Amino acid sequence: MKLLASSSVASLAVLASAQNTSTVDTSPFPTDAPVPGNYTGGLRPQVHFSPPQGFMNDPNGVFYQNGTYHLYYQYNPAALVAGNQHWGHATSQDLYRWENQPIALYPPVENSGVFSGSAVTDPNNTSGFFPDQDDGVVAIFTTNYGDANGGSGLQTQDIAYSRDGGYTFEWYDQNPVIDYNSSQFRDPKVVRYGDEWVMVITFSQEFTISIFKSPDLKNWTFASNFTDAGLLGAQYECPNMVQIPTRDHDTGEEGEMLDLLTLSIQPGAPLGGSVTEYFIGRFNGTHFNPIDRATRLNDFAKDNYAGQFFYGTPEGQDPIDIAWASNWQYTNRVPTASEGWRSAMTVPRSNYVTNATRIGWTLVTEPFNIDAITNTTIEEKSWTGNGSAIVDYSQVESNALHFSINVTGINQTELGTNPTLNFTFMSPVSGESIRNGFLFSGDNPFWVDRSGVNGFVDDIFWNTKFSVADIYNGTVWNVEGVIDRSIFEVFVDRGIHAATVLYYPDEPLTLLSVASRDLSPNAKVDLAVWSLESGWADTAEATPAQSGNYTRV
Ligand SMILES: *[C@@H]1O[C@H](CO)[C@@H](O)[C@H](O)[C@H]1NC(C)=O
Ligand SMILES: *[C@@H]1O[C@H](CO)[C@@H](O)[C@H](O)[C@H]1NC(C)=O
Ligand SMILES: *[C@@H]1O[C@H](CO)[C@@H](O)[C@H](O)[C@H]1NC(C)=O
Ligand SMILES: *[C@@H]1O[C@H](CO)[C@@H](O)[C@H](O)[C@H]1NC(C)=O
Ligand SMILES: *[C@@H]1O[C@H](CO)[C@@H](O)[C@H](O)[C@H]1NC(C)=O
Ligand SMILES: *[C@@H]1O[C@H](CO)[C@@H](O)[C@H](O)[C@H]1NC(C)=O
Ligand SMILES: *[C@@H]1O[C@H](CO)[C@@H](O)[C@H](O)[C@H]1NC(C)=O
Ligand SMILES: *[C@@H]1O[C@H](CO)[C@@H](O)[C@H](O)[C@H]1NC(C)=O
Ligand SMILES: *[C@@H]1O[C@H](CO)[C@@H](O)[C@H](O)[C@H]1NC(C)=O
Ligand SMILES: *[C@@H]1O[C@H](CO)[C@@H](O)[C@H](O)[C@H]1NC(C)=O
Ligand SMILES: *[C@@H]1O[C@H](CO)[C@@H](O)[C@H](O)[C@H]1NC(C)=O
Ligand SMILES: *[C@@H]1O[C@H](CO)[C@@H](O)[C@H](O)[C@H]1NC(C)=O
Repeated sequence: MKLLASSSVASLAVLASAQNTSTVDTSPFPTDAPVPGNYTGGLRPQVHFSPPQGFMNDPNGVFYQNGTYHLYYQYNPAALVAGNQHWGHATSQDLYRWENQPIALYPPVENSGVFSGSAVTDPNNTSGFFPDQDDGVVAIFTTNYGDANGGSGLQTQDIAYSRDGGYTFEWYDQNPVIDYNSSQFRDPKVVRYGDEWVMVITFSQEFTISIFKSPDLKNWTFASNFTDAGLLGAQYECPNMVQIPTRDHDTGEEGEMLDLLTLSIQPGAPLGGSVTEYFIGRFNGTHFNPIDRATRLNDFAKDNYAGQFFYGTPEGQDPIDIAWASNWQYTNRVPTASEGWRSAMTVPRSNYVTNATRIGWTLVTEPFNIDAITNTTIEEKSWTGNGSAIVDYSQVESNALHFSINVTGINQTELGTNPTLNFTFMSPVSGESIRNGFLFSGDNPFWVDRSGVNGFVDDIFWNTKFSVADIYNGTVWNVEGVIDRSIFEVFVDRGIHAATVLYYPDEPLTLLSVASRDLSPNAKVDLAVWSLESGWADTAEATPAQSGNYTRV
């Protein structure tokens, strides 16, 4: 929606939209400039996106065009809890250094919200909105009509188009484009398939993902339902469908292209609250046909939801997604409110599918392009069998690290009785810690324990210990991760398993210790630790006025 704002601050202002409805905003934040943000707080991630201020949830409309990634997100700029949903907006050239942009979409009428959805580029002007350009952008999203008491009303699917590459939008004058007279029908994700547009969307409380098709993004025809699949939870939300390459995990040999269907459920996750599951199969133009009946989860911890795949990334490149790193069970209470913001996104991740040892088709997910934000190697150490390392990273200004540990040449017949590799991040000041470890025998658990960090541990829904069985291939094993002030992401066995783990320390964690014991004597352990730059410091120095980011001077 394009705002006709006369002042730069929408304080109690009634703004007319192109739709001829009115937008009521009762909060003091800028409408023609980015909302300013202070990214210096001790809990503020430095290589992850977080909103300048206020509350954020699902990523929306993520797309790539002309070298720029666009991230929109569910945004309440006026409060530190969910509600009053707008589409916030940020752009990046590398997915780590973000520039905050003005809010892209505002609720169209009082008590309404612009809920989750997607965006596509329309170079061939299939929509008719872009007669003389090839860089038009169309956003497809749910408008939620509530009532003054916070009750839920109709959810319709609407579109808005942008002639300036995704910075400002005009509301389509014949919305809605899909209306099923439902109050639980949301989160359209649109992709290009052949010469048509294809949408996946949920009837949330009927446990249905519906597929619709369109030639022009305006006229949508129902194609099929994918119903009652996987873990039902209590609601379905935020589906995505993307073409996904398959690859041998050990040799890298390419297999056939398949389709990946992801689905977020909330509430009702096995660990409580929200989680994302996925199905691997083939989309045949109308139906998604899963390869098997298995339900698989994206993450073995609790803080990864509503991931969305970027539209328009180069063909042949593994699909990239980014997800909301939080959980509805506690997101409105986490302690970052003391710094004026709540919620971060995960790091961008690249994805492919592999036939993993014993467990079959599995999504492999790893950090994408982390070299772009890497500063220096702060530790490189190798040993065989038993060994250890201590890495003091208190001098790393961002307090953000990337690390990798590879174990190779494991001999199963020579493993000791308790063959383990553990690594712990800690604060020598407060004694707080996040502990992790892997057992190379038996049930092969990899575990993460955030109970040693002081903040938020009393919250009833704050599970602190997570584990997963990692059936590694017997001779090599690896773990990689990113730790960034209040968010830890760990990728086990070259991306076969991943966990996203929030933590809220009183003091920054600045010491990493790694130790292995009882491995086969010739097993080699390679450790590398890299400091990361702050993605926010850079932006602020380059364009403080435009980005609105106040950072450390
Ligand atoms: C930014 O936040 C820090 C604390 O997190 C505070 O010390 C500093 O004064 C703030 N800067 C501005 C410009 O508000
Ligand atoms: C646009 O048209 C060209 C030429 O017909 C075609 O190759 C391409 O796939 C189309 N792209 C999209 C996104 O519609
Ligand atoms: C994209 O690139 C084309 C060709 O360089 C240029 O004409 C167009 O203005 C660019 N559009 C955006 C939104 O950056
Ligand atoms: C919408 O598409 C359907 C199916 O292709 C077609 O029958 C109908 O005429 C179209 N409606 C409009 C308004 O274009
Ligand atoms: C698809 O699912 C929706 C939601 O349950 C339902 O309203 C619709 O009738 C279904 N369509 C078909 C063809 O089954
Ligand atoms: C495990 O994977 C590595 C390559 O990553 C390969 O060299 C090794 O042969 C594999 N081991 C087995 C038992 O398949
Ligand atoms: C797509 O799959 C559905 C369900 O299995 C099937 O009924 C339909 O015939 C298939 N369409 C094509 C074009 O193969
Ligand atoms: C996956 O690997 C197993 C064991 O190597 C094999 O039996 C199975 O056929 C493979 N599955 C696929 C779909 O390739
Ligand atoms: C593993 O250890 C056993 C027992 O020492 C030995 O016989 C075998 O050759 C070793 N395997 C490899 C691949 O080194
Ligand atoms: C790793 O932690 C586990 C569980 O506490 C423990 O049994 C094991 O001895 C530890 N291993 C190392 C190398 O510290
Ligand atoms: C572990 O192996 C990966 C893939 O080969 C490599 O990128 C990474 O740098 C290695 N890590 C260490 C510590 O050598
Ligand atoms: C990179 O690390 C060096 C110390 O090794 C530090 O002086 C510098 O400030 C860091 N650069 C950035 C951009 O973080």
